[in-house]
Amino acid sequence: MKLKITLASMIIGAASAMAATASGAAAAEVNIYSERQPYLMKPLLDAFTHKTGVKVNMVYITKGMLERLKAEAANSPADLVLTSDIGNIHNLVAAGLLQPSQSKVLESNVPAQFRHPQGLWYGLTTRARVIFAHKKRVKPGEVATYEDLAKPHMKGRVCIRSGKHAYNVSLLAWMIARKGEAAAETWAQGLKANLVRKPQGNDRAQVKAVYQGECDVALGNTYYMGKMMTNEKNPEQKKWAASVNLIFPNQKDSGTHVNISGAGITSSAKNKAGAVKLVEFLSGDAAQKIYAEDNFEYPIKAGAKLHPTVAGWGNFKADDTFLFKIAENRAKATRIMDKVRFNN
Ligand SMILES: [Fe+2]
Repeated sequence: MKLKITLASMIIGAASAMAATASGAAAAEVNIYSERQPYLMKPLLDAFTHKTGVKVNMVYITKGMLERLKAEAANSPADLVLTSDIGNIHNLVAAGLLQPSQSKVLESNVPAQFRHPQGLWYGLTTRARVIFAHKKRVKPGEVATYEDLAKPHMKGRVCIRSGKHAYNVSLLAWMIARKGEAAAETWAQGLKANLVRKPQGNDRAQVKAVYQGECDVALGNTYYMGKMMTNEKNPEQKKWAASVNLIFPNQKDSGTHVNISGAGITSSAKNKAGAVKLVEFLSGDAAQKIYAEDNFEYPIKAGAKLHPTVAGWGNFKADDTFLFKIAENRAKATRIMDKVRFNN
């Protein structure tokens, strides 16, 4: 309860501070619109303020970031946006709402695969989209690739969230980048044919369905496994997690699809320099440690330490396609999802 009150007052405080900045006060503070949750960002932003003396105001936005920034246009108080998945940030790029920035620190901390070539966005953490397979009902080797999920032996055994969700659109966009549009469509069709129920719920709900015996395998992002394994608030999630093996797909060919959470500087930023400093800080050692410890994500910075739980899943081969290339296929991916009527 105490936590709730603190977070709520932080957000309200941020909104009024942003209004003050937007109405003409000197822009020494950094204003953020964030899809990433306050519990995760607060320690990171506090550490930045502690180190630099620069105040940060954050508004947590669960839906409608694109629409809000479009409507506010040049008057937006936001200097910086933080998103999960390349999809959301790519939509902001396509709408002309982000501006490029160059930084030696960011070029060094963020691998080229995980940043925009003109510096329109930078990845801050990575996550793999993996297969969760029931420990008993799925035999070793039965499911080792994304392609396996679409094969006839998996009929009536697969659960997945909406095909329109950013995570699944990105996965299909990656499949297009890798194998072409026709093969990606055949895969989406095969996957749909194997679903035991209409796509629904979030990633964790799929693992729950495996635990309950509704399906044998599901797709989900790695950090959800960490969250379920350690969930003291909802301890039943530990049982869901314990019922499945985490499989990194396609280890013998391309490697597993990896996505990011990322940051981009708005076209309307009043404090671009401050925003760049903050992104640099978030990609640095101190912040990367907090991301890894608090959210079970993979650090973007090479050499940063993994959470022991995450390290416990073992090393894996990640696909190395540049994420901006994958993002370019997102519109095609959405069309395929519609064409195969994935959600119906
Ligand atoms: Fe997520």
